[in-house]
Amino acid sequence: MTKIAPSILSADFANLKEEIEDVVRGGADYIHVDVMDGHYVPNITIGPLVVKALRPVTTLPLDVHLMIENPEHYISAFADAGADILTVHQETCPHLHRTVQLIKAAGVKAGVVINPATPAEGLKPILKEVDLVLLMTVNPGFGGQSFIPEVLEKIKTIATWRQEMGLSFEIEVDGGVNAQTARDCVDAGADVLVAGSAVFSAEDREQAISEIRKAE
Ligand code: DX5
Ligand code: ZN
Repeated sequence: MTKIAPSILSADFANLKEEIEDVVRGGADYIHVDVMDGHYVPNITIGPLVVKALRPVTTLPLDVHLMIENPEHYISAFADAGADILTVHQETCPHLHRTVQLIKAAGVKAGVVINPATPAEGLKPILKEVDLVLLMTVNPGFGGQSFIPEVLEKIKTIATWRQEMGLSFEIEVDGGVNAQTARDCVDAGADVLVAGSAVFSAEDREQAISEIRKAE
């Protein structure tokens, strides 16, 4: 079954606990946490302190997407804060294997992510090492942007490589996912759909989540 990972970037930050409890009740599988540093992406969000504060709110995996420069400097802080999955941008990691090894040594699942214009080929040498591959379907930085359909081919490519190589990492998609775009992602091979505005802008989060999941 397709997993849904609501992104709290579009939640009410004054009520994060209640917002998370609401999507947990609504059937979320992961809680997606967008960490932005104002350098790698043109926006600043939250850090390890907030992850630590949110940790007791849910037993669901905290799926932490690091949109920051030098992510290797912050792996242990996010792992100690209670992240379950730490995903780093290939574009920010000149020593990608080293960074992935650092994440796994911290006892956390390791993900790698690429932007829409980054070719999939650069991920091939790391696929054996990762638990998750995240394909951005918007340029990271903000919620509420439009889905870039050209990325669908890359989802298919990664899914094909996974099968050919006999691997079992999850394929996650992030950006502009809603009940309409979700179907193409799932058809292309996505297992986990991140959805920010499509979930949190809805009055009824349970309904929003199940509409996205219906894309299966
Ligand atoms: C974008 C973030 C996304 C964002 C998705 O930089 O990585 O996780 O919250 O938001 P929507 O679903 O509104 O595109
Ligand atoms: Zn994200």
